[in-house]
Amino acid sequence: MALLGAGAQGEVLLNAMLRIPGLRFRAVCDIWKEYNQKRAVNTLRKYKFEVNGYEDYREMLDKEKQLDAVVIASPDFWHAPQTVDCLRAGKHVYCEKEMSNTLEGARSMVLAARETGKLLQIGHQRRSHPRYQHCREKLLEEAKLLGRIVTVNGQWNRAVAPDLGWPERYPIPDDRLKRYGFKSMQQFRNWRWYKGLGGGPIVDLGSHQIDIFNWFLGANPTHVMASGGNDYHDRATHEWYDTVMAIYEYDTPAGPARAYYQTQTTNGSQGYFENFMGDQGTLVISESEANNPGLLYRDPNAPPWDEWIRKGYVAAPKLQERKSGEEEAVLDVRESVSPDQHKVPVVLRDPYHQPHLQNFFDAVRGSAKLNCPAEVGYETAVTVLKVNEAIEARQRLSFRPEEFRI
Ligand SMILES: NC(=O)c1ccc[n+]([C@@H]2O[C@H](COP(=O)([O-])OP(=O)(O)OC[C@H]3O[C@@H](n4cnc5c(N)ncnc54)[C@H](O)[C@@H]3O)[C@@H](O)[C@H]2O)c1
Repeated sequence: MALLGAGAQGEVLLNAMLRIPGLRFRAVCDIWKEYNQKRAVNTLRKYKFEVNGYEDYREMLDKEKQLDAVVIASPDFWHAPQTVDCLRAGKHVYCEKEMSNTLEGARSMVLAARETGKLLQIGHQRRSHPRYQHCREKLLEEAKLLGRIVTVNGQWNRAVAPDLGWPERYPIPDDRLKRYGFKSMQQFRNWRWYKGLGGGPIVDLGSHQIDIFNWFLGANPTHVMASGGNDYHDRATHEWYDTVMAIYEYDTPAGPARAYYQTQTTNGSQGYFENFMGDQGTLVISESEANNPGLLYRDPNAPPWDEWIRKGYVAAPKLQERKSGEEEAVLDVRESVSPDQHKVPVVLRDPYHQPHLQNFFDAVRGSAKLNCPAEVGYETAVTVLKVNEAIEARQRLSFRPEEFRI
């Protein structure tokens, strides 16, 4: 195995992989030799792996012929060329989201996986999260607890944060930065905000959750409209929109549905979650074990959920306060009471990315099917990248069904 891109996410993936038995690491590739590459190599040597460090992934592919798989966590604009070259060199690839910052890039990855017959998993890790799987398979499909989902909303709100810096003792020399497509250390560290390198918060954060909209609704959208802008940050260092509000329209197997998604980077109000609203109930879910980890609300018109509580699909309800907390407040008699709250009784006790990586390695060994193969990652890329287009066009854009297929 090799790790290609050993930054913040490379480290998270590495720590998760070190918990999975039966993996042997041979190489780490990262252009920041002095810092990130060194850290990952040192970690792996502590675990007694004989690993070599590389700056250039092509050199790694030339020299490390025995590699079976490469895990890629480089900036988005490197995903396509690196994935395609790794697949053509006969390696299976786990590549982080966003699959690519361009559709042509994402397309080339799907085609390379098909041509080579090698596996390509895209890092939408919620697809392997046991809580998401439980909700999709048991609660939505089998028990149909929400009834018909007509509306969805989701968000990822983040408080203002300073730009990422770097230890002054370890800058990358300018010629090396340029060789790999970066203009400066500032841009290298904050690549997400730059056009041509990343896709801004809607692509970075939104792709995780909009992927779930499609998955849970069982459909790709037909239209999108969006508003976004750089309302707060300095445009010189934040080329992409810091605030985005998007509305998708779906024609699902059960009927029409609309989904709203918001991401902003100026206030962290209520963090991140997805909220699915059906005519019989509501599901609020997130990847986090701390915030919005999975709550269901039964609407008064829905049949009782006793059977599903007995089967352990949902927890027994916590009864909601029927009165206003303010004793002296007078409630209008027509006010609807809050529905009872049920927990989704599934907790992930491993690091968030471990199940998705495990699924990849199981697939490499032939004992599982990928939970997010290239084709699925591509559908999500088509869905998400069009938001930036819609903002620019200031128009409601449509998706043709064939846009999602290769
Ligand atoms: N699935 C998730 O929850 C999740 C979370 C965070 C990031 N990510 C994804 O992981 C990827 C990396 O994000 P990050 O936050 O770690 O960024 P980062 O900037 O912290 O790390 C990127 C690393 O890649 C290295 N690099 C850059 N160009 C390279 C090249 N051509 N060859 C080899 N190495 C190169 C950099 O030196 C750096 O160490 C992105 O695609 C991001 O979208 C996914």
